[in-house]
Amino acid sequence: VENELANPADGERLVEELRRTVAELSQANRLKSEFLQTVSHELRTPLTAIRGFVDLLLLEVRDADQVEQLHYVKKNAEKLQSLVSDLLEMAAVQAGRSAAMLLPLDLAEVVAATGESFRAEAERKGLELEMSRPAGPMFVMAEKYRTRTLLQHLMSNAVKFTASGTIRVSCSRYGSDVRVEVKDTGVGIPEEHLAAIFDPFHQVETGMTRAYGGTGVGLALTRELVELQGGHIGVDSRVGSGSTFWFTLPALEPQATA
Ligand SMILES: Nc1ncnc2c1ncn2[C@@H]1O[C@H](COP(=O)(O)OP(=O)(O)O)[C@@H](O)[C@H]1O
Ligand SMILES: [Mg+2]
Repeated sequence: VENELANPADGERLVEELRRTVAELSQANRLKSEFLQTVSHELRTPLTAIRGFVDLLLLEVRDADQVEQLHYVKKNAEKLQSLVSDLLEMAAVQAGRSAAMLLPLDLAEVVAATGESFRAEAERKGLELEMSRPAGPMFVMAEKYRTRTLLQHLMSNAVKFTASGTIRVSCSRYGSDVRVEVKDTGVGIPEEHLAAIFDPFHQVETGMTRAYGGTGVGLALTRELVELQGGHIGVDSRVGSGSTFWFTLPALEPQATA
C-alpha cells in the first residue's frame, strides 16, 4: 500500500513531531497541576482564617443582630470553601491525578445515612423524605467519602429544586449493578437542557433573574465521581412534574446479597 510514510525521512519527521507534542503536553499538564496546588493553597488559607476568626467572634459578641451577621459570614465562608474543594476535586479527577481507591462498600448503608442527613432540611421546606432501604447490604467497590459527596450533591439539588411534594431515595439491585435513585417532585428540567446538564457550570437558570443559588459545579463533579468508580449516571425529567437522577455502580457480587 502506498502511503505517506513511503519516504523514511517522513517517518522520522513524524516521530520527531510526536515527541515534541508529548513534551509540550506533559509540560502543560505539570503547569496545570502546579496552578491547582497554588490556587488550592491561596484560596483555602484565607478561608480557614475567616472561619476561625468568625468562630472566635461568635464566642464574644452578644448583640443579636451582630450574631446573625456573623452567622451569615460563617455560612458563606463555608459555602465558598465547599465550592473551592468541589472545583479542585473536579480538576484533579479530570487531570487524571486522582485515582480511585476502591474498597468494598455497603452502598445501601451510605445511601441511608446520607439521605437521612437531609431530613431536617427537607422537612423545613415542608417536603416529605421517603427512604426505601433494601433488606440487606448492597456491596459495591467504591470510596465512601466520594460516594457520600456525590449523593450529597444529588440530595441538595432535589431539596433545592422542589417546592412541594416528596423526595424518594432508593437503592436496589439492577442487573450486575447497584442502582441509586433520587426522585423529586420539583421544577423539572427542560428537555433541551438534559444533554448538557452534567457539563461544568451548566444551569437551567442563568443571569440576574435566578431564583436558586449555586454555581453549576455539583452535577459535573457528581458525574466525574461516578465514572471514576466505574459507574454510570443519568436523569429523567419533565418540567413541572419532577426529576429522577440515578447512578449505578458495579455490584461486588454477581448474586444479590440479602
Ligand atoms: N433535582 C433537580 N431538579 C431540577 N433541576 C435540577 C435538579 N438538579 C439539577 N438541576 C439543574 O441542573 C443545574 C446544575 O446542577 P448543579 O451542577 O448541581 O449546579 P447548582 O446546584 O450549583 O446550580 C441546576 O442549576 C439546575 O438547573
Ligand atoms: Mg447543585
